[in-house]
Amino acid sequence: MKVDVLLGLQWGDEGKGKIVDVLSSQYDIICRFQGGPNAGHTIECKGQKFILHTIPSGILNANTLNIIGNGVVIDPFILQKEIHMLAEKAGIEVMDNLLISKRSHLILPTHRLLDAVQEASKGEGKIGSTLKGIGPAYTDRTARHGIRSGEVLHKGFMDKYNDLKRSHLQIINTYKIDLQNITIDGYTFSAYEELWLASLDTFKKLKQIDVEFFIQEQLKADKRVLAEGAQGTLLDIDFGAYPFVTSSNTIAAGVCTGLGIPPSLVGEIYGIAKAYATRVGNGPFPTELLDETGNKLRKNGHEFGSTTGRPRRCGWLDLPALRYAIMLNGVTRLIVTKTDVLNDFETIQVCTNYERDGQWIDYLPFDYSHVTPKFRTHQGWNCNLNGISQAEKLPQALQNYLQMIEHETGVPIYMVSTGPDRNQIIALRN
Ligand code: GDP
Ligand code: IMO
Ligand code: MG
Repeated sequence: MKVDVLLGLQWGDEGKGKIVDVLSSQYDIICRFQGGPNAGHTIECKGQKFILHTIPSGILNANTLNIIGNGVVIDPFILQKEIHMLAEKAGIEVMDNLLISKRSHLILPTHRLLDAVQEASKGEGKIGSTLKGIGPAYTDRTARHGIRSGEVLHKGFMDKYNDLKRSHLQIINTYKIDLQNITIDGYTFSAYEELWLASLDTFKKLKQIDVEFFIQEQLKADKRVLAEGAQGTLLDIDFGAYPFVTSSNTIAAGVCTGLGIPPSLVGEIYGIAKAYATRVGNGPFPTELLDETGNKLRKNGHEFGSTTGRPRRCGWLDLPALRYAIMLNGVTRLIVTKTDVLNDFETIQVCTNYERDGQWIDYLPFDYSHVTPKFRTHQGWNCNLNGISQAEKLPQALQNYLQMIEHETGVPIYMVSTGPDRNQIIALRN
């Protein structure tokens, strides 16, 4: 057995949570391998809506085990809130079905402060971080003074915590920013720190494992494993539009380092793309629509961040960017989501290539902040997709749109999503 991978091909929020939930019945184990609570993965089923930040999206399936891999950064307080939310809303005992890697790193309250002061100091140039402390936590991991989940159980944990906190506060004091003006999710720093430290009681009760051994043993026992990506390929630390990126490798390669598996154990790669494009936060977005059409996409698609509530920037599907993402990940199966958002568009535009310095290019270049997209017009389907459950029943214009995507990318579309609910999914292939 191999580890299949599911990840976003755009700038995040492609509908990964929904699709993982749909696929989870085919898997024994779902693992997050990178990112942290900057993610917001939404699952809608039986009239309920769940937004997961740290816990893998297999948690609603009672038969699926969920793992938080070593590549993830965890805020124990946010994780505790998710555990409580799932218990209250759906009676799910998360502790029974969740394992965490001893090697995953902790996001401290002072990482959140650092994120806030660093962003504030950038002014116009700010990244638009989710302010969850992601950048500072990964910085400490790479600089080799972070704290791993396994260390919470060590005797010297509080000393290590206080040392790191002290060094963070020294850095924070060099920014000429009044700390009184900075809150963390509405709490003062000391109130947040108190809640965070209290949440360690729950955190210590989680089952901690050596993920690298565990997953390989499970594969040998014929268990089916799916790795769930967070963020999107175009936010990758190496291949995104740096510095407007997140701090982890969001691409398929991240699965190997984020779970401790060799490349030879990676199987299918599911790539998720919306039928159009969105981006939260700053940075280049060639097909962005700053007009009524963009507003209509936002309204139809309820394009507001699952983690921060910020309005998402909206635009047309960008084929050069999609091809780049598919190339980096080696996508074997495409899944197109949010097709229903385009239901009432007479025509749909698709970016086929860009103009840069008077020349036409059909790939995503190193710096794409000044490219001009060239669009091709496609016929809209102008109808509601509710109630359609078979591929052949999809309107012809939508079938043509999907065939065009397959033709342009060279990758077969495996499933199409026609609404937020678990049941609004159509298989195109087996
Ligand atoms: P993720 O971060 O990739 O898991 O995506 P998010 O959950 O942040 O954002 C996707 C949003 O679109 C969520 O509100 C989903 O409930 C919703 N969604 C997912 N698939 C579809 C779809 O096919 N149609 C519509 N209208 N909404 C969808
Ligand atoms: P999911 O998993 C969309 C964006 C932020 C910002 C940049 C850096 O729900 O798809 P960070 O907090 O990581 O330092 O922010 O990345 N970003 C996301 N955008 N979906 C996400 O996750 C994101 N996680 C981070 O908006 O532009
Ligand atoms: Mg999201």
